[in-house]
Amino acid sequence: MASRVLLNELPAHGELQGHAAALRGASISDLFAADRQRAEDFTLTAAGLRLDYSRQLLHRDARAGLLRLAGQAGVEDGIRALFGGEHLNNTEDRPALHTLLRAASGDGQQERFREVAGARARMRDWAGRLQRGEHRGYTGAAITDVVNIGIGGSDLGPRLVTEALRPYRGTIACHYVANVDPADLQDTLRPLHPATTLFIVCSKSFRTEETLANSLSARRWILDAGAADADLERHFLAITSNLEAAAQFGIRAQHCLPMWDWVGGRYSVWSAIGLSCAIAVGWAHFEQFLAGAAAMDAHFRDSPAAHNMPLLLGLLEIWNCNYLGASNHAVLPYDNSLRRLPDFLQQLTMESNGKGVSAQGAPLDYSTAPILWGAAGTMGQHSFHQLLHQGTRLCPVDFVLPLTTHTGLAQQHRQLVANCLAQSRALMVGRSLEEARATLLQRGLGAADAARLAPHLAMPGNRPSSVISMSALTPAALGALLALYEHRTFCSARLWGINPFDQWGVELGKEISAQILEVLSATRPAQGLDPTTEHLIAAWQEAQSGIDQGQ
Ligand code: F6P
Repeated sequence: MASRVLLNELPAHGELQGHAAALRGASISDLFAADRQRAEDFTLTAAGLRLDYSRQLLHRDARAGLLRLAGQAGVEDGIRALFGGEHLNNTEDRPALHTLLRAASGDGQQERFREVAGARARMRDWAGRLQRGEHRGYTGAAITDVVNIGIGGSDLGPRLVTEALRPYRGTIACHYVANVDPADLQDTLRPLHPATTLFIVCSKSFRTEETLANSLSARRWILDAGAADADLERHFLAITSNLEAAAQFGIRAQHCLPMWDWVGGRYSVWSAIGLSCAIAVGWAHFEQFLAGAAAMDAHFRDSPAAHNMPLLLGLLEIWNCNYLGASNHAVLPYDNSLRRLPDFLQQLTMESNGKGVSAQGAPLDYSTAPILWGAAGTMGQHSFHQLLHQGTRLCPVDFVLPLTTHTGLAQQHRQLVANCLAQSRALMVGRSLEEARATLLQRGLGAADAARLAPHLAMPGNRPSSVISMSALTPAALGALLALYEHRTFCSARLWGINPFDQWGVELGKEISAQILEVLSATRPAQGLDPTTEHLIAAWQEAQSGIDQGQ
């Protein structure tokens, strides 16, 4: 892979620093006043989504500079390389072909596409058999509940999609267990019955500690209920690229659906990793979800930079972080069924772009992925929105807004929409000291009290946000939304010079955890660790002896 020029070495970098310095004192409301076409010209549509970024602290010249920056960073070459299957994951020498998982044809990747099509056929088959009650547990009763055991990308995507598409669900209930804390498994299994429960062990590597521990406990749960060893296979499927480890666990190849090394965990919900979603909502809806993502892929691959929604979102991320100084990014879905979207996006963006060296290993002396956080609206309005409106930090916001509801409660949904639009507007317009004082006088306060309280009511405004809307949260719209953020993450990575497809930073903690587990299991002495860890281990040991004595 040829060495790429870093963000702060690109010719447009200086120009953008100049725009940012000038705009820091500007007001977004004034930008609207000076540009009648702004609302229209700072809006894009693609694959059923509408992105309105007119409330960003950005004018046309800065936008043109950002598009020049993208050209100089070779983002469009990167897009071609991504779809062309080049080994963009250079540290692991692999392509990143998650787009193939939702494609309708192979397009230069025929061999891999045949495998994808084969896996889809097997997913459809399993989803259909379970939905029709044809797959039975050890007592002969039909399966009623599916428990997906996985973590990270083998959990967050499937969990989000199943929850978000709840209005489309069929007869099988899908549940998700991720944490190695046994309480997660225990709480999930409490209302379920072993005879009618199927586990899907979702692990690309089949080596992940949390997933293996939960799977072993799940197996014990089935056996303790009276099933024989030979019955276990009726209760376990695996999604993995490690057939050998799955076989050692006791899941034979016929019950394993494939994963490939050219799909990263956080980009894998479109593969058999999404089987629980297909079971929950039925194959036809899962296919619509794939088609929605494929529509966003086509837009991303074929649209010119100025109209390319993922690229524009990536440029806004760079603009807010590297030029305006934001260190975080809030995503606020105004739809309760999307409440797990921030969790999904945290892994997608922070595991992809939370890096301090370039793809070639050069240290980066600029900020990379911002801290992504958020919650479903309107919950945050009664909690952290205070900081968004009056705090001292710059927190750019993406509002995500389905314009209609599946609930049938149109009047109540109107309140939700009003709140979303109000928050975005309030962040922009704020309230001046003078307006605050006038409001207080209107409320009947005396002049002295109004002057005293006005600074507390005043809101600086001018806080950037975008609104991503869709007519309804359909499977296709959800697919397009997740693909949008995947591609935005890729564009930002290109601009920062990062490889977004590896995650070496998660390794060290896993290694140390294995060492400490040996110490806790008394198969290795505690010496040689740091003093704090040794003290904490001693405290744990003391607590165990307390429990032993109490028993
Ligand atoms: O530890 C990080 C990670 O490797 C993620 O990238 C991945 O999504 C998750 O663990 C689960 O991995 P696996 O599917 O191999 O169990």
